[in-house]
Amino acid sequence: MQPEKHNHINIINQPRSEIMADYAGQQGSNHSREINVIPNLELIDLGLGHSPWGAPKKIVETLINRHSSEILNRIEQYPSDRWSAKLAQLTRQRFNLSEETHVSFQPGGSYRILANILTNLIDWTPKKEAGIITPGLCFPNIALLVHQLVPQNKKQEFPFKALDLPINTSYDQRIISLAQHRQQDPLSKVVYLDLPNNPTGATLEQDSLTAIAEATLNKNNPDLLIIDEAYGDTININAISLAQQYPHIIITRSVSKTIGLAGMRIGYAIVSPGQLSELYKKSMDLVFDVGGLDQLILQQTLQPEILNPHLKQVKNKIFQVKTHLIDQLHSLGLNILPTDMNVPILLAQAPHIPNFASFLARYGIIIESGSDFKDVCSEINDSYVRIRTPKDIQTVNIAMQRIQNAIQEAQENPEACWLT
Ligand SMILES: Cc1ncc(COP(=O)(O)O)c(C=O)c1O
Repeated sequence: MQPEKHNHINIINQPRSEIMADYAGQQGSNHSREINVIPNLELIDLGLGHSPWGAPKKIVETLINRHSSEILNRIEQYPSDRWSAKLAQLTRQRFNLSEETHVSFQPGGSYRILANILTNLIDWTPKKEAGIITPGLCFPNIALLVHQLVPQNKKQEFPFKALDLPINTSYDQRIISLAQHRQQDPLSKVVYLDLPNNPTGATLEQDSLTAIAEATLNKNNPDLLIIDEAYGDTININAISLAQQYPHIIITRSVSKTIGLAGMRIGYAIVSPGQLSELYKKSMDLVFDVGGLDQLILQQTLQPEILNPHLKQVKNKIFQVKTHLIDQLHSLGLNILPTDMNVPILLAQAPHIPNFASFLARYGIIIESGSDFKDVCSEINDSYVRIRTPKDIQTVNIAMQRIQNAIQEAQENPEACWLT
């Protein structure tokens, strides 16, 4: 099928089932996969997006010292809605949100929230204007979710589109193009973007955010604008104030990344006040959704005296380690796409190694491979890798030594890249 053209922008709107089926099986995401690692090398995981610094250690201390008797109660009894309301209140205070701005914590991580939005909030029936569009290179699981959750017989065309811009297009330019494109494509009533961007770790200027909010506002019948801020805890510009100003925005957030609680699988949504908040409450919120013990842990974590120093410390770590990582990657001749130094992920390319991630897996380095992002960017290939910032400079140095060895082997024996 030929790519669609709109004002000279190619559009991907094909489900690539072979890649989607393979996505969860990539070595970066699935540690159970057998990897042929060179003997005696300990694995270095730079793949999954959890924080290598973990959660604030104080929460464990507080739970044991102050809440030990409460823990059994929390496991034995149904959770209280009052406790969920408390989490929402702490979040409103944290971001200075009005009481009318709905905040909802939900199990299954922000991933489950995205899945529920697709199934509960969007009408996919034929003739209804429903399709989802993204700025291209972004969290590719959104395409996977559409593929999994939207009944395919309801639509003639796969209802997911991605602007297929050149890979080195800046993130601001992608969003501006999306805003312009939106005017020509009345069918894509749902717009998804991630801030910061996964895989590049790029952030946006306030003007670009305002441009996309305006372009999707469409006063009589606004689009749904989903802004995925899973990695949003360390960036300087986020979309939270926009969600208060505009009526059509849902921001999804996570406690998995910078907060360091990936194992809990909890996410939260911040929803524009008004009709959208009411619809969200009616269609998405369920009683007893977040477990009592999870509520207790989160209530401790979200206390400003615990959360703020933790986020500050993690942000400093990311900046320090990422600066060193980027210096080292450049000195090894890798290309790096523009990235924000406060975000723990980046996209790098070894132009001469066609199978970079699986080649590095042999050297005990686990990273996300470029083709995991193929559903949203046709130019990307396996010479690209998404790297998550490691814990410390020492780990960067060990990883760099291995990458250097891999590059040297690839130069001496190009065939070796395929021996995974
Ligand atoms: C951009 C983005 N959104 C959402 C998620 C899902 O995060 P979680 O379900 O852990 O909140 C991830 C995790 O990889 C992500 O990178």
